[in-house]
Amino acid sequence: MLKFGDIGLDMPFIQAPLSGYTDHPMRVLARRFGCPLVFTGVMLDKISLHPRAMRQIKFRPFPEEHPVGAQIMGSDPATMAQSAAAFERAGYDCIDLNFACPVPKVLRRERAGYLMRRPAIVRETWQRTREVVSCPVFMKIRVGFDSSEAAREDFWTICENAAADGVDLLTIHGRTVEQKYKGQADWDLPAEVKRAFPKLTLFGSGDIMTAETAVERATTSGLDGVIVARGAIGNPWIFQEIRALWEGRSKPLSPTLAEQKQIMLEHFEMILETRPPRKAVPYFRKFTVGYCRRHPQRKQTMLALMQARTPDQIHRTIEDYYS
Ligand SMILES: Cc1cc2nc3c(=O)[nH]c(=O)nc-3n(C[C@H](O)[C@H](O)[C@H](O)COP(=O)(O)O)c2cc1C
Repeated sequence: MLKFGDIGLDMPFIQAPLSGYTDHPMRVLARRFGCPLVFTGVMLDKISLHPRAMRQIKFRPFPEEHPVGAQIMGSDPATMAQSAAAFERAGYDCIDLNFACPVPKVLRRERAGYLMRRPAIVRETWQRTREVVSCPVFMKIRVGFDSSEAAREDFWTICENAAADGVDLLTIHGRTVEQKYKGQADWDLPAEVKRAFPKLTLFGSGDIMTAETAVERATTSGLDGVIVARGAIGNPWIFQEIRALWEGRSKPLSPTLAEQKQIMLEHFEMILETRPPRKAVPYFRKFTVGYCRRHPQRKQTMLALMQARTPDQIHRTIEDYYS
């Protein structure tokens, strides 16, 4: 059992922060299928400092999500720390500081992935946050800003500082910021970090699309755990599959069409509870590629769902294709 303060992980696999995806519905479903810890998508630190912002439902965890972490990004250590404190007060169980996001607009504003080139700011952000919150404070980084020597040095400095400061959990996505999501993720460098700093709790991220890969990485990488990102989109069942394999049982049968239907409808209902219908439909469509992978007529089903324009059409399409 891995422990982070009050948070206990009964398996070393957690759902990644995924901006635009890991809102309430995806988090609730992941927890239901056995994921031991979930995160929000990355949020800008300044958002939480607006006096009325934290009263909004989208910034507050639902009871059935716990334990749930808030992930934040920013450019100024003091503001990040203040924001972390606001999210802790709002009920989140841990804070994850994002130094990994590669979106150009984010980099231009010297946030997230940009800070892979500023190890001193990364360190100060974690230390200041540690001072003002009592929950565990995690960090998510990449294997460097780019593949240059200087970037590699910055990466090692960040890891060394994380180990020295006692960062509760460091997650390393095995791609550089410059790579964004292209190419294969590097799991060797994170493994080297773990060998260099064995006391640092370290999770890896990258190319975990199936339960088999997740368990294989956790078993062979030497890291403490694995985060599941794109492989969990429209696929909450991956967590029960991972659990079975991890516990030495055989992989459960794929959910029946009726079970898939029930979860998809429930997912859509939860989206409708927090978004107006005209926004809920395109938002739900993003999950259908994942959901349809388990359907025997994947292409037709996906096409039909992509063409649905209203909540009624979504409901009817799901009923038609999954009954
Ligand atoms: C659409 C999308 C949104 C993401 N949003 C976040 C985010 O908000 N915070 C974060 O730390 N990583 C984010 N990531 C990165 C993932 O957490 C993960 O590290 C990355 O996708 C590699 O894992 P994978 O190859 O298994 O998907 C995002 C990735 C994708 C594809």
